[in-house]
Amino acid sequence: MKILILNGPNLNLLGRREKSVYGSRSFEDYFEELKENFPKLELEHFQSNTEGVLIDKLHEVGFSYKGIVINAGAYTHTSVALSDAIKAIDTPVIEVHISNVYARDAFRHKSMLAPFCKGIITGFGLESYWLALQYFEKQKPKQIGFGSHNS
Ligand code: DQA
Repeated sequence: MKILILNGPNLNLLGRREKSVYGSRSFEDYFEELKENFPKLELEHFQSNTEGVLIDKLHEVGFSYKGIVINAGAYTHTSVALSDAIKAIDTPVIEVHISNVYARDAFRHKSMLAPFCKGIITGFGLESYWLALQYFEKQKPKQIGFGSHNS
């Protein structure tokens, strides 16, 4: 069961960037722990700082993979194009954030992506990704990957 974790802008700097907000661990390091703990999921990780590259990746996997976990970083709050891409694909998408975006600046309270995502997980540090994977792990194959985003 293929699951893509898609990280957007500045998330390549996890472990070095604003440690008080995002922690001191790199995503590459945490990804190893995720793979060990979710052996039934075929996990892939992809990161880009570029909106179009993230959209291309959604198109590439969004009709065949069973799930996508996206942290679109600041594009979450601004990108109509990413929002349209999530709406266009079949694969269910869970939006995650490391920080609690609702406890931060008002401009972070709006998500362009959320209406087309299965759900949102925000504020649990890197464990936000873990919680999203738990959802996919529990799904029977026929329940995800096809049809409506909201079913
Ligand atoms: C973030 C929250 C966004 O507001 C911010 O722009 C990020 C990271 C998070 O994971 O907490 O880059 O998505």
